[in-house]
Amino acid sequence: MATVGVFDSGSGGLSVLREIRKILPRERYIYYSDNAHCPYGEKSPEYIIDRGRAITRELISRGADAIVVACNTATAAAIATLRAEFPIPFVGMEPAVKPAALGTRTGVIGVLATAGTLKGSKYLNTRGRFEDAVRIVEHVGAGYVELVESLELEGPHAEKVVWASLQPLLDEGADIIVLGCTHYPFLLPVMQKLASPEVTFIDPAPAVARRLQEVLRQAGIPGGGGPSVELLSSGPPDTLKKLFTL
Ligand code: DGL
Repeated sequence: MATVGVFDSGSGGLSVLREIRKILPRERYIYYSDNAHCPYGEKSPEYIIDRGRAITRELISRGADAIVVACNTATAAAIATLRAEFPIPFVGMEPAVKPAALGTRTGVIGVLATAGTLKGSKYLNTRGRFEDAVRIVEHVGAGYVELVESLELEGPHAEKVVWASLQPLLDEGADIIVLGCTHYPFLLPVMQKLASPEVTFIDPAPAVARRLQEVLRQAGIPGGGGPSVELLSSGPPDTLKKLFTL
């Protein structure tokens, strides 16, 4: 019976947990929001590795058989270290550059992510594989994580903040935007309202869910154990509880 730990710097990873539970609905999940230390986007890799270690120990002590690092920034900074130090499987976030590159009609794709993700070798390698075929333009979603953590998911202020980072990508001609941070899908309704209907947004969460399914199967971890979701947080639990019900 599987217990799956899922963690993020805050509530963003719930956008991944939601997709996981669609295809693995009978498992036991423990979600950890590290909101006392959020955002991770501008923090050093060493800091994020230390947080990843502490959260992994906590999740394993509560029975986790596998862990989903439901945070692009923490995947970039810490997943290699966590895999080397802990004896359970880890599944991380992949920036969805490949499906975007295959789907673009304008030949330009946009990537929205944190500074840490865009600087990480994982993203840079992925980018390197596709930049001969398509033009890739990037922008940090400045202020997006703060909007989600403060539950400001709509309204004039949210639209202004979202537009400031989205507009430069659309101005470059991007017709597909990769959501490279797990908080950003919560702002998708605002993005869709602001962008033209021809623009597509890609969330890698469904692919991550399928990868977890495969990893559990390969590791011989049987299904079941739930259905249950336990929500933990290093800071106040309000946002986590609220977003979980959306
Ligand atoms: N949700 C996270 C990510 O996917 C972290 C954002 C942050 O804490 O800056 O990158």
